[in-house]
Amino acid sequence: MGETKSIYLDHCATTPIRDEVLESMMPFLRDRFGNPSSSHAEGMRAREAVEKARQQVAALIGGLPAEIYFTSGGTEANNFAIQGLVQAGREQGDHIITSSIEHPSVLKTCEHVASQGCRVTYLPVNGYGLVELDEIEKAVTKETILITVMHANNEVGAIEPVQSIRKVVGSEKVLIHTDAVQTVGKIPVDVKELDVDLLSLSAHKFYGPKGVGALYIREGTPLVPLLYGGGQERGLRSGTENVAAIVGLGAACELALREMDDEKKRLTRLRDKLQDLILEKVPSAVINGHPQQRLPHVLNVSVPDLSGTDLVEEMDKQVVFISSGSACKSHRAETSHVLSALGVAPELAKSAVRFSLGRNLSEEDMDTAADAFARAIDRLKTLFELEQSLGFRRCF
Ligand SMILES: Cc1ncc(COP(=O)(O)O)c(C=O)c1O
Repeated sequence: MGETKSIYLDHCATTPIRDEVLESMMPFLRDRFGNPSSSHAEGMRAREAVEKARQQVAALIGGLPAEIYFTSGGTEANNFAIQGLVQAGREQGDHIITSSIEHPSVLKTCEHVASQGCRVTYLPVNGYGLVELDEIEKAVTKETILITVMHANNEVGAIEPVQSIRKVVGSEKVLIHTDAVQTVGKIPVDVKELDVDLLSLSAHKFYGPKGVGALYIREGTPLVPLLYGGGQERGLRSGTENVAAIVGLGAACELALREMDDEKKRLTRLRDKLQDLILEKVPSAVINGHPQQRLPHVLNVSVPDLSGTDLVEEMDKQVVFISSGSACKSHRAETSHVLSALGVAPELAKSAVRFSLGRNLSEEDMDTAADAFARAIDRLKTLFELEQSLGFRRCF
């Protein structure tokens, strides 16, 4: 008997590395092992590869190669942008603005700079998870040095109006950063259209390797490094470059640029099909987030009276991999800060699960996933009823 084919629907968490990407990296893990800082031929070959990747990243996001700084991923890029700017801007002001639905790599960094005396304003979002521009306008003060609002949210997929922030703020003095980890490689991202000074991206979210990313820093933006040492990345990010991973990031960018338009349309079609099937099979299901202004591959669903972590487990048993909107700690699920900010009632927020689609999925996979979901709900409801009849109390 053949093994049941698994269906991976967790592409917001990470994506499988593409064959072309892996192939581009292999020489740099074996024979081409040179250090890009060495002046001999082996070093020069590594340097050329790093600079080619810098061009590929710049081409995908509409920046200049000289504005791309390689990092160990999205978390480091976000830390670098926020901590680096707060330190560089001490003379100008001590206030930053962010949204209440950012990834922990932004929120925890904001908490850190707050512990060092920086004031942080957390913008609310509306019921769709969108930041409203008048809230930004209200929050800006003479002391504001940075606004950091994510390009798209990793739980509900809401695409934020980043391109309008500068117009609202007016002042060139306030710098704008966006965490574009969930959008780069998935939807068009252009640093000039977005009018941002800093932008974070991460390779493993779009079929590149884990542990590599980049920070776009608009020319002339003052930033203090996080890491000191050999002065790599023009003195802003010391440490010998992870050449193979950087080459993989570059290759993933080139592929994304070539295929994005078609893939975006295909994923929207598949996601909408999955959504329709789920609503048909599970009429009580509630979709979280905006129906249109959301990433093409993301679907966040709540099912009243169930637990998201139980649903993920039941789907796992059917080899369909999704994620829950809440982190389960010692059998007690914590409500997602994102869904809370959207105003989703705690019972619904605890039942939320996220389906995030990717390039290896077919129409047929959507049928299988929707059937598995309906089955998972039936099983949990039966179990729930049985537990109740036996007098058990379930804690979500
Ligand atoms: C919106 C967002 N920002 C930042 C990160 C962190 O990126 P990395 O895993 O490359 O550190 C993630 C990863 O889940 C993310 O979804």
